Amino acid sequence: MTRHLITSALPYINGVKHLGNLIGSMLPADIYARYLRLQGEEVLFICATDEHGTPAELAAQAAGLPVAEFCRLQHNIQADIGARFGLSWDYFGRSSSPENHDLTQHFARRLDEQGYLEERTTNQVYSPVDQRFLPDRYIVGTCPHCGYGNARGDQCEQCTRVLDPTDLLDPRSAISGSTDLEVRETKHLYLLQSKLADEVAEWIEAHADIWPALTLSIARKWITEGLHDRGITRDLDWGVAVDRPGFEGKVFYVWFDAPIEYIGATAEWAALDPDHRNWRSWWYDTHDVDYTQFMAKDNVPFHTVSFPVTLIGSREPWKRADQIKGFNWLTYYGGKFSTSEQRGVFMDQALETFPADYWRWYLFANAPESSDASFTWDGFAVAVNKDLADSFGNLVNRCLTLSAKYYGPVVPDGGTPGERERQVAADLADIVASYTQRLADKELRKSATELRRGWSLANIYWEQSEPWKVVKTDPDGAAVIFRTVINLVRVLSLLAAPVIPASAKTVLDALGVGETRWPQADGIDDELQELAPGHPISIPPVLFAKISDEETSALEARFGGAPLEQ
Ligand code: 2FM
Ligand code: ZN
Repeated sequence: MTRHLITSALPYINGVKHLGNLIGSMLPADIYARYLRLQGEEVLFICATDEHGTPAELAAQAAGLPVAEFCRLQHNIQADIGARFGLSWDYFGRSSSPENHDLTQHFARRLDEQGYLEERTTNQVYSPVDQRFLPDRYIVGTCPHCGYGNARGDQCEQCTRVLDPTDLLDPRSAISGSTDLEVRETKHLYLLQSKLADEVAEWIEAHADIWPALTLSIARKWITEGLHDRGITRDLDWGVAVDRPGFEGKVFYVWFDAPIEYIGATAEWAALDPDHRNWRSWWYDTHDVDYTQFMAKDNVPFHTVSFPVTLIGSREPWKRADQIKGFNWLTYYGGKFSTSEQRGVFMDQALETFPADYWRWYLFANAPESSDASFTWDGFAVAVNKDLADSFGNLVNRCLTLSAKYYGPVVPDGGTPGERERQVAADLADIVASYTQRLADKELRKSATELRRGWSLANIYWEQSEPWKVVKTDPDGAAVIFRTVINLVRVLSLLAAPVIPASAKTVLDALGVGETRWPQADGIDDELQELAPGHPISIPPVLFAKISDEETSALEARFGGAPLEQ
């Protein structure tokens, strides 16, 4: 039996993530993992915080905390928010873990032994006052293009031009403010990617029929532009130490150790229960694992090219991704979500405003798959009001309330299904089959369309059958209708469970459905009789509250929503 390994891109430690980060990796990975588990598949869903690099150091400095302490706190915050969003990680690790340190050093050693590492000397800015080399982001000065006085050495935030630290006018250290900067020679390790370009290209092309167009086009672009050798060490304190004479005080570049943490986090997970968990069986010389990675498009090059170079160059049989699902950007009213400007909606704010399932549904149905997608409060309100409240929620509450009113707290007895029920069953079977296929294909928006079709099928059957009228003259006939809708609700809740797990559970609990498993299209008649006459049920609380126009306007005012120029 195939086992399923799922990873989502590791969120940076430097702050709470926004909705774009959520839909760009963590949420789709979770939906896929939940779907597979309901199918009865063996799943290992791994994520972690990406804790090294300059952004972590800078954020810790801004928070006035030692970087290790900052990371520990932020990891806990992200773990908590993720759990509250229903992200069902089997393990949420930390790239600063000893496991990742060991593995990163292992890969560097292997790459070196195979002749893929080279020491090179480069020139870099040194600050005698700070007694350290300054990475590009640690040098600030005046932008030569727009005159912005606080431009960073890698990019000007005001005019967005990419810069080299030597472009800056009046450069100074971002740490001490010292203008006494000099250029010194420093040694770094280079990964000779060029030597592995053909093998990576071959691996990419072997997936040409499997990967989505976005993933494939980005991967091919990088290969076509030529794989350049890449410096994989930095003059920083915080990170995985480079275990090599002459490299004291240097660490590996964050993008070298971050993807290795997919393996590291699996090792962290296994260390918690060594008698029953074996991380190597998921990663090393394995033949029964199907591995899917989820990420936003800026991460695709690192996963289709850089990380595979590390794995291939080790000349050890490490598991590589089978499927790589890349996403476009979710924008906020057409503009960038921005952590530094606090523009957009962040995961903690989202949870303070509405339950996780509202967000999960909206993001699922509006995922930036074939192009960028723009978040607006209006669009969010429409998704919640129309799909969740009017369609799914309303059906559940009306049907269960009325059924209880006429037949008591059990599935109604009496009557036999007729032509209309047979037609509903056939239509449902079709929807179950196509929805299942869309989820398996990780096509989020198309899956959402199918789930909506299911909800609307049940609503149409309900409206056309009018059991609240039939019951007055033909209680047995009405019992068939109620029973059918109750069973439809069961199937539709199971189908919705990967996307809106908390709401689905509320309904399934009310229906007394204990063991959950994925509905079968080819056994649809059984599915629709699963809850038999007399089976006890209760009425769940109202599932979804509608969002009013006034609320929408207030949210726009609070979060800022003025449309940006595209
Ligand atoms: O872009 C990001 O948010 C990175 N922290 C993703 C890292 S993914 C993996 F390779 F670790
Ligand atoms: Zn500028």
